[in-house]
Amino acid sequence: MSPEPTVILGIETSCDETAAAVVVDGIAVRSNVIASQHRIHSPFAGVVPELASRAHLERIVPVLREALSSAGASWSDLDAVAVGHRPGLIGSLLVGVSAAKALAWSLDRPLLGIDHVEAHLHAGLLDAPPVRYPALGLVVSGGHTSLFLLDQPGRPQEIGRTIDDAVGEAYDKVGVLLGLPYPGGPEVDRLAATGDPNAFDFPRSLPRRDSLDFSFSGLKTAVLYAVRPPARQQGRVVTETPAPPMTDQRRADIAASFQRAAVEVLLRKLGLALDRHPAPTLLVGGGVSANSLLRRELAALAQERSLDLRLPRMEFCLDNAAMIAGAAFERLRRGEVDDLHLAAGARRQVATR
Ligand code: KG4
Ligand code: ZN
Repeated sequence: MSPEPTVILGIETSCDETAAAVVVDGIAVRSNVIASQHRIHSPFAGVVPELASRAHLERIVPVLREALSSAGASWSDLDAVAVGHRPGLIGSLLVGVSAAKALAWSLDRPLLGIDHVEAHLHAGLLDAPPVRYPALGLVVSGGHTSLFLLDQPGRPQEIGRTIDDAVGEAYDKVGVLLGLPYPGGPEVDRLAATGDPNAFDFPRSLPRRDSLDFSFSGLKTAVLYAVRPPARQQGRVVTETPAPPMTDQRRADIAASFQRAAVEVLLRKLGLALDRHPAPTLLVGGGVSANSLLRRELAALAQERSLDLRLPRMEFCLDNAAMIAGAAFERLRRGEVDDLHLAAGARRQVATR
């Protein structure tokens, strides 16, 4: 007889999405409810932490109810409650963590605090066949850009990270410079489709050739100067000269050239990581994994190196709770559960090698 399926409720409130999901055995997604706050933050061109926490508070209960009802589940069907408890905006995380604690306590079920960045690596495993380990992982989001090595399920070790901006952050800032709506990532992606990726020779910042770290701040500054060229005197920036007219074509060319440079940097470091840690599987996650050029380039890389590439479905690329519930399954199986002292944390607790 096969063992009883394990039903986990996931909760995610680390930034500007209030999300809840029901996932069976870490893989089968029964529901995936996401209430996005983009419209609230869009006039500010970025997430306003106080507004985010307030919106999470208003939405968390209806979102939880909907996750249960669309899964056709009742509270008593749940075997565990998992919550993304770090990293993120502390006020936002606290809403999810408090809800998870209240549910775990009242239902008398185990509570699991899950690292949000590591959960992104699980996104490509949802509603998909099992993978072989070791695996290499790439997380590309608005707050993080990191490479991971996973010798076994659910045990990622970070082997590279950005030393300044995350790639999604660079996308969002370029979106602001180009006058696009927030969040800029998907807008830059769309605009880039009509531009010439070779129109601007933006820098490919590769901090130390042998390191697996990333840097995107130089690229972002180069885009700033393409939009508003600075005047220089003896090498120092003294005034800003009037920008050349920002035609639709120039805007699209900047978007396409920026995107080409950003994706090239990601692919080069990923190539280096694969040379150093040959693995049959490549897990990719985070909002930028929705990017059209990145997806095409990753597919080509996977074919070239015969990799089992796990690119998440679109609904699992952005912040969601299915990845939280999915990532919790291995932890629960290993008995690595938390108690009601579980704390929310703004930063990751990094395991490196
Ligand atoms: O993973 P995520 O939802 O939140 C964080 O954990 O940060 O990622 C959000 C980021 C934003 O920076 C957004 O602009 C970016 O993902 N993003 C994209 C695309 N879709 C979302 N960036 C580039 N191309 C896209 N198609
Ligand atoms: Zn995320």
